Amino acid sequence: MPTSTTRIRKAVFPVAGFGTRFLPATKAQPKEMLPVVDKPLIQYAVEEAYAAGIRDMIFVTGRNKRAIEDHYDTAYELESQLEAAQKTALLEIARSVVPDDMTCSYVRQPRMLGLGHAVLCAEHLVGDEPFAVLLADDLMVGPAGGEGILTQMVRAHERLGGSILAVQEVPLEHVKRYGIVAGDGVEDGLTRVRRMVEKPSPEAAPSRLGVAGRYILSPSVFSQIRNQPKGAGGEIQLTDGIAALLDKESVYAYAYQGTRYDCGSKEGFLQATVELALQHAEVGEEFRRYLKSLTL
Ligand code: UTP
Repeated sequence: MPTSTTRIRKAVFPVAGFGTRFLPATKAQPKEMLPVVDKPLIQYAVEEAYAAGIRDMIFVTGRNKRAIEDHYDTAYELESQLEAAQKTALLEIARSVVPDDMTCSYVRQPRMLGLGHAVLCAEHLVGDEPFAVLLADDLMVGPAGGEGILTQMVRAHERLGGSILAVQEVPLEHVKRYGIVAGDGVEDGLTRVRRMVEKPSPEAAPSRLGVAGRYILSPSVFSQIRNQPKGAGGEIQLTDGIAALLDKESVYAYAYQGTRYDCGSKEGFLQATVELALQHAEVGEEFRRYLKSLTL
């Protein structure tokens, strides 16, 4: 039985982390502003949410994150200079970052207490309705010509209600990097989640289904997070809040169609850069020629 089929109108972007794996690049600027080719990571995630029909974007920020607010504000000096120089294509690129019908809100996470805590900081802006959570350091690309990952999840939510987690099968030696879920198959690519564990050892993992950084969550998750003890790594984990929902509401694991680049790690970031550069309308062809010319 669907628990809720309300339309998803709001997306939460937890961007308060320190991004220590990218030091020194992240010493004075947020990891989410690192560009893949020519667009910051956060913009890929916001565009994915927008394409899924979401218009209210909520950023959970911390210290050193002003660049994200500036990116989603009007850049008067830049725009008037481009206008005066009649550089209309560039002006359009600068303006299209914030479509007219999109609103952005910001809330600070005063201390880095964990992803669950970051999501809880957005509770008063989300209210009592299901919402999406997107981790911008997971860059998610739908199949060529197909729908984005969050759009696929919104469609599943329209049918099923409840909460939906994006999952992928991960190698056994990598389960300790993920929230791992297990449960009963409902249909091809869809599992009703019965167990969820944060970063288990390979021996303790109930499956190899790892949660990627896209969630649609029922608002009941807020009270679960508020009342839970610290979890793995001494942090208030989102995984524990969702795990506490399992015997009260339906939570589904959705095996998305598409590719995830773990841009929180250097390897994933480099893979995304190479693959998206190859597909890029302006530089793709030249870049392909360049790669072919390399002796590897
Ligand atoms: P990560 O642990 O991957 O990000 O958290 P990090 O801490 O920024 O990176 P490293 O490990 O030091 O390199 C996943 C996401 O959750 C957010 C982060 O910003 C990131 O997008 N997060 C995590 C918060 O917003 N607050 C927290 O307390 C923890």
